[in-house]
Amino acid sequence: MVDVPPVVLDRTSRTPLSVQLADALRAAAAAGVLRPGDRLPSTRELAGALRVSRTVTAAAYDQLLAEGWADGRRGVGTFVVGAAAAARTTPAVRRPSARATTPGTDLRAGTPCLEVLDRAAWRRAWRAAGDAPPDAGPEPAADPAFARAVTDHLLRHRGLPAAPEDVLATAGTSAAVTEVAGLLPRGSRVGVEDPGYQRVVGALRDGGVDVVPLPVDRDGLVVDAVPPGLAAVYCTPAHQFPLGRRLSAARRVALVARARAEGWWVLEDDYDGELRYDVAPLPLLGALGPDVVVHLGTTSKIVSPTLGVGWLIAPPELRTALVARRTATGARPARAGQRVFTALAGSGDLARHLRRLRRELAGRRAEVLAAVAAGGAHAEGDPAGAHVLVPLPDPATEEAVVAAAAARGVVVDGLGRHRTGSAPSHPGGGLVVGFAAPTRTHLRRALPVLTAALRDALR
Ligand SMILES: Cc1ncc(COP(=O)(O)O)c(C=O)c1O
Repeated sequence: MVDVPPVVLDRTSRTPLSVQLADALRAAAAAGVLRPGDRLPSTRELAGALRVSRTVTAAAYDQLLAEGWADGRRGVGTFVVGAAAAARTTPAVRRPSARATTPGTDLRAGTPCLEVLDRAAWRRAWRAAGDAPPDAGPEPAADPAFARAVTDHLLRHRGLPAAPEDVLATAGTSAAVTEVAGLLPRGSRVGVEDPGYQRVVGALRDGGVDVVPLPVDRDGLVVDAVPPGLAAVYCTPAHQFPLGRRLSAARRVALVARARAEGWWVLEDDYDGELRYDVAPLPLLGALGPDVVVHLGTTSKIVSPTLGVGWLIAPPELRTALVARRTATGARPARAGQRVFTALAGSGDLARHLRRLRRELAGRRAEVLAAVAAGGAHAEGDPAGAHVLVPLPDPATEEAVVAAAAARGVVVDGLGRHRTGSAPSHPGGGLVVGFAAPTRTHLRRALPVLTAALRDALR
């Protein structure tokens, strides 16, 4: 086995540690520091040496396995394959169904479905955005037309009444969370759902606060388990990420009541609230507690992160403090993305796109459920959004399914990637299967691989 390669990880960077580690190992293999046939340290040994969690090393190895830079043999170890073999496009196949698989089909959650985005509408919106004359003055709050478009959108699609002056444009949810964290005294404690969205965990840490993992169950965040003394609680009430359930009505009321009584903010991440396929969504926390809730929306899931734009609706004192900070530091959301969103919303193209998107994603979800069932497992989560959770008996089974799928060119996330602490409320394993990123054709080619990986591991 090779020694632990010289890897420097930047813990202050926004790039996740697992991505940094995969980059460093790939670079070492490309430079010949690691040679084909070298056995890498186990994920546990490497985690110990680098003082990171095993989730980080396992995620980095999974990525290298999926790319073909490494080869894993269960019970034997992970071996460097090398650049030449990594360039090979077809992963090893064991079943006829896997032969058709596109290498690197991405079934991770988080990427939007671009296949149904009407390119003509997209071009029209960018052209319209360019028609507006350039502006000399920076606008630290929001472009006024964007603020109006957001309030229309929220009322129409999320039932949230807000005035344009309540809206702050953001560079997306994670960026907004960093901004809000920056207003809290350093070392403040902020609760997050665990398992939960790791980019926001990173954004909070980047903002200088301590992250406190909170349990989640079938009714969403367990409000009774929120400890005293927090400055804020971050949650995904419409569609808990990654478990896929919504926060019950009783817990919504309890959460807002505790925030009021104890003086904390609730950060409501409504990342895919527009994508619900059965019943109408429950009222937003932002509507229940406008005095304590920071409502965060984004275009990343419903259109594209290319726009780099989202919105924040918050009580006036918080908005004023954010604008003051932006003014003092020169930070401000880019105008271009705001204008494109405004044009898409104003022309009716956004509403048409959302209708198409819901139809498409609901259809894809049904295909994923069938593929998971054929593999002897079941998928959980409300009929919403663009991912499902597949519970597995334990983390070892999770690792086996992730590795088996990756070996056949299908990248899927284990639940372990989404843990902040040890997540005692979810000690078992699981897969978080996203179905928005690939084209429908590629998804259909990848699903038999998922079925086979589940069937093999659960046999
Ligand atoms: C839970 C969750 N929140 C928010 C986002 C969007 O974040 P941003 O607006 O920073 O791109 C995503 C996108 O993947 C997400 O999964």
